[in-house]
Amino acid sequence: MTHAIRIHKAGPASVLKWQETEVGKPKKGELLIRNTAVGLNFIDTYHRKGLYPISTPFTPGVEGAGIVEAVGRGVTKPKVGDRVAYCSDPPGSYAEQRIFPAERAIKIPNGISDEQAASMMLKGLTAAMLLKRIYKPAKGDTVLIHAAAGGVGLILCQWAKHLGATVIGTTGSRKKASLARANGCDHPIIYTEKDFVQQVQRLTKGEGVPVVYDGVGKNTYPGSLDCLRSRGMWITFGNASGPVPPVAPLTLLQKGSLFMTRPMLNHYIATTEELTSLARELFSVVRKGAVKIQVNQHYALKDAAKAHRDLEQRKTTGSTVLIP
Ligand SMILES: NC(=O)c1ccc[n+]([C@@H]2O[C@H](COP(=O)([O-])OP(=O)(O)OC[C@H]3O[C@@H](n4cnc5c(N)ncnc54)[C@H](OP(=O)(O)O)[C@@H]3O)[C@@H](O)[C@H]2O)c1
Repeated sequence: MTHAIRIHKAGPASVLKWQETEVGKPKKGELLIRNTAVGLNFIDTYHRKGLYPISTPFTPGVEGAGIVEAVGRGVTKPKVGDRVAYCSDPPGSYAEQRIFPAERAIKIPNGISDEQAASMMLKGLTAAMLLKRIYKPAKGDTVLIHAAAGGVGLILCQWAKHLGATVIGTTGSRKKASLARANGCDHPIIYTEKDFVQQVQRLTKGEGVPVVYDGVGKNTYPGSLDCLRSRGMWITFGNASGPVPPVAPLTLLQKGSLFMTRPMLNHYIATTEELTSLARELFSVVRKGAVKIQVNQHYALKDAAKAHRDLEQRKTTGSTVLIP
């Protein structure tokens, strides 16, 4: 018998229940992993609330790291005893032990701790997707990153800076602005106090930025579009403040022939080759110290409800891990 957080009905943080569960044995192509650290992500709140529906009951969580305890038929790697990390489908990382497809688990390189790995698979690969697959800032580009002190945000700031960009970032408080500044954000804007569109226009001398990385959603729309220069790209990749309302194609024309994309990491790591090549790029910038993965909050896994409330109330910065 093992334990996991289970959701029986979509709803507020109180629906997260710590319960005994059966994990079973790994089948063909599967691993049994004993989780040592579980990553907390904003998407976990969408799953919990039903914004991204999952049929109940289910164990939430899309990011984690641990040790391989058993392998199913046909699995030659990873091996029992290896440290592995994983993200994305199927959910189920909020558990002491879980079953996961072997070909989607990545062996954790030396020099990267389980906690770092658990908190950078989804967030770091998302940053990699945004900066290396969707819009790679050229040296000298000025880019705008919303929620710059958040989990994805802090990784984006450091990596964009490493690529040679000038980074403008928005944050919800002075303290978060200092943290973003210490992590590659040249111009933090406290968007709860100042109009970020005016600030971006001032900083870019009215030209606007070529790209906005926008994980905030509802509250930064349509402002994000007004920060873009002609033919700029709005990458709307999350709903931290709520989903963005429908956008008319003519709006993109009127604001300067803009590009809009609404990506999801799963679609960029659909094949094992795509997953491993993106992970290689992420591990490389982390191992050389260009991107530091900051685990700023720890909770016991059974206290996941408290972690969800803190995340939704904007109390966290950087990455958060839940410890089984
Ligand atoms: N598309 C994908 O494949 C993909 C993958 C991973 C993550 N994401 C998205 O990336 C975004 C960041 O994820 P994360 O896990 O790293 O979370 P996070 O950035 O650590 O937390 C969300 C942040 O959003 C900001 N925010 C602004 N308005 C908010 C509101 N009304 N309520 C709550 N937060 C608000 C807060 O920062 P301030 O206080 O500084 O404003 C908050 O700390 C999320 O939208 C997530 O869904 C997308």
